[in-house]
Amino acid sequence: MDKEKFDLLYEGKAKKVYKYNENELLIEFKDDVTAFNGLKKSNVVNKGKINKKISEFFFKMLNKESINTHYIKEYDDSSFIAKWTNLIPLEVIVRNFAAGSFCKRYGVEKGYKFDDTLVEFSLKDDNLGDPMITKDAILLLKITSEDVLEQIETISKRVNKILSNYLKSKHIILVDYKLEFGLAKKDGRLTLIDEISPDTCRFWDDNTMESFDKDVYREEKGNLINAYEELFRRLNI
Ligand code: TMP
Ligand code: ASP
Repeated sequence: MDKEKFDLLYEGKAKKVYKYNENELLIEFKDDVTAFNGLKKSNVVNKGKINKKISEFFFKMLNKESINTHYIKEYDDSSFIAKWTNLIPLEVIVRNFAAGSFCKRYGVEKGYKFDDTLVEFSLKDDNLGDPMITKDAILLLKITSEDVLEQIETISKRVNKILSNYLKSKHIILVDYKLEFGLAKKDGRLTLIDEISPDTCRFWDDNTMESFDKDVYREEKGNLINAYEELFRRLNI
């Protein structure tokens, strides 16, 4: 596309980030998909466009509910303009049902419904394999302040209510998801960043428990793009 005119600041496994202007970024969603810290890799035509549309849909919904997200506006089919933030190197994992690494860690059956929402943290560091980290260690290592950490937890739970309620009306269960946060370059405000897509969430049909997310790829349960398109269709975007 015409993005060569922007400076590429960072290329991750699923996105490219360009400088749009002093306070804004251009975020491009790639067709690449990876799992298990990049050990498994493929290219799936249209994945970038679908994930951009789904992320955009959720960010707009959250912005309307006064959650400060980085989403500003669409740029093209596979990219949007976002607030430039200084990333807080944490992955915030929110769980409503047991799945994935939680089941492996504790030997719990997949689908076990938690009485309350569980918020966990990982240190965002690919070389270390994003290890889990406690709140005390986050504070001792001065990754962020106690006040910001508390706000992150509160916002993550509010996001859970908003998204879970919406998805419920579409007969989809929000099983778990990953959020990232940054502090806006312009005004220092805590901002929800990154993406909210089937790459970073688990979505199950509330009747059949069929997955509409990256588990289709991780566990080789079928065609990834068909699952993402089915989610897209159900969301009425
Ligand atoms: P997990 O069960 O593998 O820990 O994943 C929990 C949720 O977080 C799941 O919805 C997928 C998402 N996730 C990411 O978006 N990126 C990651 O690197 C990992 C490990 C999980
Ligand atoms: N996002 C990670 C990777 O690409 C892990 C995962 O989602 O399974 O390797």
